[in-house]
Amino acid sequence: MESALGLPAPAKLNLFLHVTGRRVDGYHTLQTAFQLIDLADWLDFERRGDGQIVREGDLLWDASEDLAVRAALALQRATGCRLGASIRVTKNIPSGSGMGGGSSDAATALIALNRLWGLGMARAELASIALTLGADVPFFVHGENAIVRGVGELITPVSLPRQWLALALPPAHVPTPAIFAAPELTRSTPSAKMNVFSVGYGRNDLEPVAAARHPEVATALVAMGRVAGNARMTGSGSAVFAACESAGPARTAVLALPPGLPGLVVRTLARHPLASFAS
Ligand code: C5P
Repeated sequence: MESALGLPAPAKLNLFLHVTGRRVDGYHTLQTAFQLIDLADWLDFERRGDGQIVREGDLLWDASEDLAVRAALALQRATGCRLGASIRVTKNIPSGSGMGGGSSDAATALIALNRLWGLGMARAELASIALTLGADVPFFVHGENAIVRGVGELITPVSLPRQWLALALPPAHVPTPAIFAAPELTRSTPSAKMNVFSVGYGRNDLEPVAAARHPEVATALVAMGRVAGNARMTGSGSAVFAACESAGPARTAVLALPPGLPGLVVRTLARHPLASFAS
């Protein structure tokens, strides 16, 4: 059994996101298409014999709030495992962008430590621990592009067309709880029966709320619409994306974004790079 591992944690985009209701605990039920993309954080793990979970490297927040650390602690608690780990995260996915960076880091931590600690847990077992860490984490543990319902626990894999995308990354960190709590949020979009999914379907119900509260998001939507002919926000923002026919138009769109609005060309992934990673 190896004692160290380095693994990726890819970002996601919500191709559409419909808020279908609100539960008594305040959490919202959703119907959304999660698409993995080739922008990823990188996580290095080293097994420790002393049981400690140590977060190494630069941290933008308190270590106890770090989702990779919380994932490691949750896995220890669920299994009684007495091993620990040092975790280093190299961030490439902007935080507060709606691309699932923290959730993906948590999922990769569960998959990595399951192996480093020799726990032999199945993905479905890891997914139930994942749901205690955040609504998006089970999707990353499953590892397939998917239509997701409930608060993130009902996952139906879908085959989505490979695409090039132009991304705009406004310099805004959008707090997810505030967007979901907004009184003006539409919470009654009907849940559709869906076997076949077409690109451009639906909308993001969180988009008008985030755009009204964060002018940088509104500006990015207008700018991307102008250069790419379509634009949608992912998650609760702040990132905005546009589907493009090929790499060329995606590059052209990103280069045409106004100064002060960083952009990136990305490609969709057919599946998570760890989808078949052995436990
Ligand atoms: O699950 P996650 O940590 O990403 O969610 C952050 C916050 O967003 C939650 O605490 C909740 O306020 C809100 N949320 C929600 N319904 C969801 C997902 C998130 O109300 N399905």
